[in-house]
Amino acid sequence: MGVEVSDLPAWEKFGRDGIGFHVEYCDEKLIFRLDERSRRIILWEGPRDDVAWFGWEVDGAEELSAVERHLRSLSIDVRPLSASDAALRGVGQAIAFSGPMGLPFEIYCDPVISDQPLKLNGLSAFAAGSSGIGHIAVLVENMADASEQIKTMIGANPTDWVEINRNGVVTSIAFLHSNQRHHSFAIAETSGPRPEGMKTIAHLMVEVATLEDVGAASIRCKRLGYRIPRDVGLHENDGAISFYVVAPSAFQLEVAYGPVQIEEGQCWETSTYDTDSRWGHKPFN
Ligand SMILES: [Fe+2]
Repeated sequence: MGVEVSDLPAWEKFGRDGIGFHVEYCDEKLIFRLDERSRRIILWEGPRDDVAWFGWEVDGAEELSAVERHLRSLSIDVRPLSASDAALRGVGQAIAFSGPMGLPFEIYCDPVISDQPLKLNGLSAFAAGSSGIGHIAVLVENMADASEQIKTMIGANPTDWVEINRNGVVTSIAFLHSNQRHHSFAIAETSGPRPEGMKTIAHLMVEVATLEDVGAASIRCKRLGYRIPRDVGLHENDGAISFYVVAPSAFQLEVAYGPVQIEEGQCWETSTYDTDSRWGHKPFN
């Protein structure tokens, strides 16, 4: 994932001291590592203060070509990335296209594995690997349309749905998966007003290895004075225990532990829930 940010030092502090990412600089780019991959989140200074691309991984060059053919068959304009752009992302090859709802999507293969030790700050581990960084949540005009676009373009399937009615304001959320992660996409539509200043995504979730990691990260973020719109709580549908903190560029990070996984070959039965949290997830400050 690439993010252009207006305050790089603020992100460095947030990423390392708040969340606990491995942080390093390379050619004035700030790199967050979560695992053995050399680059997971790449940030650079610029006025946009928003996500520049989301990368989705496939298994090798052959699969990348197949995805490219599929996208072209849908009349989607696909742009192969240059070798230097792929190197910047820490991947072997990649293609870029305007994804569902115009999101800047990329598909890549052959991620570069780092030969340097991973130095996380106050965390035992992130649960990333082949399931990816986590998930993104976006707010759209039409949830059904957006879900269909994601399914058609990259083959992600519905996991379940949540429909919440808070004092007459209805928020519907579709959850879609493309690997064993319960969802890589949460697509929300609301009858209420769009939150002010909202960027491309509402939040990015990163999954940590233990419940203690969630608690420790929430305490670090509180001590550093970051805004916590949703303190620790339990999600009804995926069973994750998580909290949400506002990152320096408007969108939020959700730090989560223990979401249910969809095993390969498992016959998943979709459900609809009328709440997103069984307990907690209330504003801290
Ligand atoms: Fe989430």
